[in-house]
Amino acid sequence: MSVLIKNGRIVTAAEDYVADLYIENGKISAIGANLAYKADKVIDATGKLVFPGGIDPHVHLDMPFMGTYSSDDYETGTRAALFGGTTTVIDFILQTQGDSLKNALTTWQEKSIGKAVGDYSYHMAVTDFNDDVAKEVVEFIEKEGITSFKTFMAYKGALMIDDGQMVQLMKVVKKHGGLVTVHATNGDMIDSLIAKNLSEGNTAPLFHYLSQPEVTEAEASARFTDMLHYTGCTGYIVHMTCEGALNAVQRAGLRNQKIFVETCPQYLLVDASVYENNFEGAKWVMSPPIREKKDQKALWAGLQQGLVNTIGTDHCPFTWEQKQMGRNDFSKIPNGHPAIEHRLELIYSEGVRKGRISLNKFVEVTATNSAKIFGMYPQKGTLAVGSDADVVIFDPEKEHIISKDSHHMNVDYSSYEGWKVTGKTETVLLRGQIAIEDGKCHLKPGSGQFVKRGKTSYII
Ligand code: URP
Ligand code: ZN
Ligand code: ZN
Repeated sequence: MSVLIKNGRIVTAAEDYVADLYIENGKISAIGANLAYKADKVIDATGKLVFPGGIDPHVHLDMPFMGTYSSDDYETGTRAALFGGTTTVIDFILQTQGDSLKNALTTWQEKSIGKAVGDYSYHMAVTDFNDDVAKEVVEFIEKEGITSFKTFMAYKGALMIDDGQMVQLMKVVKKHGGLVTVHATNGDMIDSLIAKNLSEGNTAPLFHYLSQPEVTEAEASARFTDMLHYTGCTGYIVHMTCEGALNAVQRAGLRNQKIFVETCPQYLLVDASVYENNFEGAKWVMSPPIREKKDQKALWAGLQQGLVNTIGTDHCPFTWEQKQMGRNDFSKIPNGHPAIEHRLELIYSEGVRKGRISLNKFVEVTATNSAKIFGMYPQKGTLAVGSDADVVIFDPEKEHIISKDSHHMNVDYSSYEGWKVTGKTETVLLRGQIAIEDGKCHLKPGSGQFVKRGKTSYII
């Protein structure tokens, strides 16, 4: 199948020009003015933006967590992602403590193969490090194309590893050219604040926020950067929320470290007043919690300065019924919220339209940098001859309203219910196939492919 996209405004992390784009056999095969190729399908993109399919480096699909499972599986989650212009997601495999990485990989392959609609890859979450796991880490990097290893400095008893395990993991990962990623919050401090709040009868979602003050994230982020410095490993901090944590990364820069940082739309766009509204705040119970306006300011500045490299979603949806598990105890509210579908539209509308970031920066932080950091570039994350034809045709002027009634995520509320945004994903191609057109998904479960990743590129 061949596709010719005519007259679009082609935007990559580095370029911005009007041209035609020709696609053959799933790859971009030519880009230029007035291309005279015959194609099976011609799309007129006059007045539209044409940019690379988004890459969401942080999603949780069908994930067992806090006594339940995130409500989007590989089919519903990757389809919703496509509707929003995200063609590739990186999900997290969770090692069960006491079990092998290989068994966890098998479990996640059963969740994804034959079900994913869009492309996907996995980070491997190491929750129990020992000599056997060290050997598996090497195999994952060298053979499986899974080159990033997630660690948790919180969620003790379920996911957290201690600093000794962290350092040992970093040494192995460094030796083989991988990357250690981290949920950087101080689990022990948080657990003691949760216990104190509950013992005083403070059970509302507000106390989820008050049990994870900024220092818990700033301290853990600094500790992580110190361990990276000691081991020489490359690191990536997921879902950064606050000024204190960003300052820790800036300080690491003073001793010549380069640490990659991800933030999420919710930390850029929403502030902690969402927790004031009694149990409604459960919609925003996630870890780390939503922070202050001064933190939003720091994160936008961090994006502009190149300190913050990617915007993921940390999509981890739970239905309103699932959120009721914590009706009388905030610590039992499953942590996470739905976001996979609206990342590009929110960041375009609130970031680009409002002059906070440029269009090139938008592409860089929603696609290109994730492809580079996680070893998928230039197959993914750009529009170039030879790259996968993952393409978004985006109407920059179209106004619409985000709502649970129109979204495609398997969850019965939208965190952004009623938000008016400008800019809409119109047509999406996945490896040259029409994925989204005229408000419909044209791909079936099983269309999504696993993306085997290379070692950290160190390009940025
Ligand atoms: O609240 C969150 N973020 N839930 C998903 C798990 C994690 O910590 O990323
Ligand atoms: Zn996390
Ligand atoms: Zn997460």
